[in-house]
Amino acid sequence: MAKEDYQSLYERSIEDPEGFWASLAENELEWFQKWDKVFEWNYPYHKWFLRGKLNITHNCLDRHVAAGRGDTLAFIHVDENYKETTITYGELLRQVNKLSNGLASLGVKKGDCVVLYMPLMIEQVVAMLACARIGAIHSVIFAGFSDKAVRNRIIDLQAKVVITADWTLRRGEKKRLKPTVDEAIDGLDFVKHVIVLVRDGERHDSTEREVDYYELVSEQEDIFAPEVMDSEDPLFVLYTSGSTGKPKGIVHTTGGYSLYAHYTSKAVFNLKPGDVYWCTADPGWITGHSYVVYGPLSVGATSVLVEGVPDYPSKDRWWKIVDKYKVKVFYTSPTAIRMLRKFGEEHLEKHNLSSLRILGSVGEPISAEVWNWFYKYVGRERCVVVDTWWQTETGGHMIVSLPALPQKPGKAGLPFFGIDVDIVDKDGQSVPDNTKGLLVIKKPWPGAMRTVWGDNARFEKYWSETKGVYTAGDMAIRDEDGYIQILGRSDDLINSSGHRIGTAEVESALNSHHSVAESAVIGKPDEIRGEVIKAFILLHTGRVHDEILIEDIKFHVRREIGAHAIPVEIEFIDKLPKTRSGKIMRRVLRAKEMGQDLGDLTTLED
Ligand code: WT7
Repeated sequence: MAKEDYQSLYERSIEDPEGFWASLAENELEWFQKWDKVFEWNYPYHKWFLRGKLNITHNCLDRHVAAGRGDTLAFIHVDENYKETTITYGELLRQVNKLSNGLASLGVKKGDCVVLYMPLMIEQVVAMLACARIGAIHSVIFAGFSDKAVRNRIIDLQAKVVITADWTLRRGEKKRLKPTVDEAIDGLDFVKHVIVLVRDGERHDSTEREVDYYELVSEQEDIFAPEVMDSEDPLFVLYTSGSTGKPKGIVHTTGGYSLYAHYTSKAVFNLKPGDVYWCTADPGWITGHSYVVYGPLSVGATSVLVEGVPDYPSKDRWWKIVDKYKVKVFYTSPTAIRMLRKFGEEHLEKHNLSSLRILGSVGEPISAEVWNWFYKYVGRERCVVVDTWWQTETGGHMIVSLPALPQKPGKAGLPFFGIDVDIVDKDGQSVPDNTKGLLVIKKPWPGAMRTVWGDNARFEKYWSETKGVYTAGDMAIRDEDGYIQILGRSDDLINSSGHRIGTAEVESALNSHHSVAESAVIGKPDEIRGEVIKAFILLHTGRVHDEILIEDIKFHVRREIGAHAIPVEIEFIDKLPKTRSGKIMRRVLRAKEMGQDLGDLTTLED
């Protein structure tokens, strides 16, 4: 696609978004019943494909089988020991149907919430799809979150069922998951069943509400008619960090999300049925929802699923996998690329990477330097590097470097079709080209979040922070060709290894430690992880800060949130910089940490 073709299609999509999205919905998806209205905008609430009926699993599974692609591989799972498990579209449909019947036999109905706390494995995807097939709302929690974090989410959702596995492998060791679930649901009577996937036949203690995954599915029929879902019925809730303490349950619905995940996978990654594709994300994050599960399945691709870490058992593990499975499209994060780069090029040179065509990046800005390395050593100067800016809230890609357009290393690219982007100042006025500002989206798009679970006010805030538009929370700059560079968050969120972490969330975990009086958390630039968490801590009088206390505080954060939220650095101080109204000025701590000018201090208390 030439830049002019992009431009004219883009303009059409912005002038007539309803026509643009309706024709895609018609041509790209199968509906049980067509919608009677494309879009309804009741600011800030919006609906797409009103009264349309569909089930996302029909588009991800049944229609491929009906089209004769039942024998195409849907997933190739590779564990830490390179043990491979594959599943075809036909078999995946049968497995999903069996679990759907199993869930139905436990009384799970449309609209019920089911929490998944599982490792990256085929059954994790089966569980998501089975929920979607029966119309239950799934909420996948990344298997690194602590029991407290899991518990809070289960309570927020009033989840009826939890699906888990007994362990996952990490660097050769079994990391147990089920004890975390046991702690999380202790005393929560509304959780009726825990389905446990026993991975290697090991026995485990079983309580009354426990159900064995394989026993549950073994006797079930492999046919299940998908629930007829309304376009606006919730499909899933996924929690993400916000700038206040409590994580937000981002709600995505069926119709708009189905189309958005499908069409972005097709247009941005050029994915076609049977293409071998590898997105390194875990389904516990939004990237996994849209670009491991729903998007690639909807287009009929074959996805590689890799359990474990990039450097175990060896540092060339990822390249070995690309080579072995002849991966064509490879989607990962700058933090992973920086780590693999540090390991050295010799690990790449051992393998044949000539199957690669498109390299994708997501999660944080990819600097021109890292972009060039990715292009040169992984892509061998034959592949396009596609950056993709988006968020849990946006459901799918928003600003992209489409494969056919000229590349600008270090810039995320151009707005995707139908996405009306602007860069504004704090009063909402557009800023001139090459001027830093806030990234906003002017109109809803089909894949957008519909609300925050149980908290409409928090949803409304996204659309009211800057009047009339969606404020993404990122700073950005647009050049004279319309290319957008993302500069990082404008709020109190930290991006560490591509994970979004709320400073307030970490602070509230720290403050609940018995020795901590007050704390402030900042993101500190880090060569590999983008940012690492640094905590400034004020202790209660009389507490001694030694190594033991530091370790104890770190352990406490692990228990409260999870390992990814542990501060890498802890500094004890006597006083935190605050405004006269008592708000912690993290900006001052950050500037001081980096040896920069402290800026305007007129609001500083003292
Ligand atoms: C935030 C959203 C969406 C998948 C992963 C993260 C940052 C994401 C990029 C990119 C620069 C990026 C932004 C965004 N971000 N992709 N390509 N370039 N920054 O999802 O946890 O919802 O975080 O991640 O700051 O707002 P998330």
